Amino acid sequence: MIGRFLKQFAPRTLYGRAAAILLLPMLTLQLAVAAVFVQRHFEDVTAQMTNNLLLEVELVLRELERQSVSEVQEGFAEELKIELRSWDGVPSGNRMVFYDISGRTIMPLMRSRLDGLREIDLSDLDFVALGLMTAKGPIKLTVSRDRVSASNPHQVLVLMVFTGIFMTLIAYMFLRNQLRPIKRLSVASAAFGRGQRVALSPAGALEVRAAGQAFLDMRDRIERQIEQRTMMLSGVSHDLRTPITRLQLALELMEGPEVEDLKKDVSAMQMMVDSFLNYARDLAADPVEDVDLLALGAQLAERMTPPARFELAGVPRLCALRPVPIGRAIENLLVNAGRYGSESILTLHFEESGVRICVHDDGPGIPEAQRDAAAKPFVRLEVARGQNQGGGVGLGLAIAADVARLHGGQLVLSDSVKLGGLSADIRLPL
Ligand SMILES: Nc1ncnc2c1ncn2[C@@H]1O[C@H](COP(=O)(O)OP(=O)(O)OP(=O)(O)O)[C@@H](O)[C@H]1O
Ligand SMILES: [Mg+2]
Repeated sequence: MIGRFLKQFAPRTLYGRAAAILLLPMLTLQLAVAAVFVQRHFEDVTAQMTNNLLLEVELVLRELERQSVSEVQEGFAEELKIELRSWDGVPSGNRMVFYDISGRTIMPLMRSRLDGLREIDLSDLDFVALGLMTAKGPIKLTVSRDRVSASNPHQVLVLMVFTGIFMTLIAYMFLRNQLRPIKRLSVASAAFGRGQRVALSPAGALEVRAAGQAFLDMRDRIERQIEQRTMMLSGVSHDLRTPITRLQLALELMEGPEVEDLKKDVSAMQMMVDSFLNYARDLAADPVEDVDLLALGAQLAERMTPPARFELAGVPRLCALRPVPIGRAIENLLVNAGRYGSESILTLHFEESGVRICVHDDGPGIPEAQRDAAAKPFVRLEVARGQNQGGGVGLGLAIAADVARLHGGQLVLSDSVKLGGLSADIRLPL
């Protein structure tokens, strides 16, 4: 309960937290020291000094009962460094400046000890002036201020604040150097999630360095694995082309009712191999670039028969993507929309956190339970539905989903609100 309440005020970033961890003890220590110091110095020391002075003032007052003002003044008042002069006796009130902390201790002390006291004037920080009723009438008594309170006591406080600020700055600089590698690591891993490769050299404290090195090893291993998998699949597909061609040639020479079915199967095999090889080639040869999705989308929508409607939401901007795979993914969705529906819309949503590429159609859609399956490679729902709209091998959605994942995003299938069929949505974080 209290923990959650305090959590609201805790800084969110690593920098903020480190600064808080650094500053809180320092501030607390300074405040505690300052409080004790003010108490000791401004109150106790001032009270002691004031009491000493009051003893002398009382002595002077007693002397005034026996001698005249000028005699006392020239006598030992002079030696005590107390100045006396006659006064018209009109009190002008107690005065001091508002930041005079020790003045607050001096005033009540004096008032409680001196009976004839009419006025205390501390407004001049160098002097204490007292208006007194004495045996010789009203007189003004002036002494130097440094006899009742320590001079320049604030120096210690000022010194404390400045060393505090200075040490904080130095600590912040050291801290920043320690935090920088962690920040770099987080940037590099976020980029890797989006399919980008950001250079990272492990640095900083031993543990941070180890985390950085572990990330690099992991990245290398994943990249190597992907590369090997693609290479193997490409190899197999490539090697299948020759036997498939040979089968096709052999089938051409044959005749009979079952030959037609075989021909269809073989050409389907060829299409599978070709689509996979095309996709593998796209991936291999394509670096991340600043892509103008607006132009790409418009061009792809135009190329469909019939052309897809093209719509834009948000402010368009360049996006760091792999243009050829992204183009193929969009094209796959548009081809599906054209194949399974009659009307289609391609919408680009440019949002704060990323971009959504959405293809709507007015076809039958995909039931929710089958959406996951439809996005798997070589899965065709048409076969189960018993209606073959021809052509496909079941790689279109799988490739679109793979391209989305490659960019750190995902493919989301849902019911289209716009046209009533399927809405296929490639969501990419940027
Ligand atoms: N817009 C759509 N409307 C209705 N069903 C769809 C739609 N898009 C895909 N499907 C269903 O999902 C299945 C898988 O789609 P996918 O694009 O992966 O393969 P395909 O279109 O059959 O073949 P390919 O795209 O490889 O030529 C399709 O067979 C189809 O049944
Ligand atoms: Mg398809």
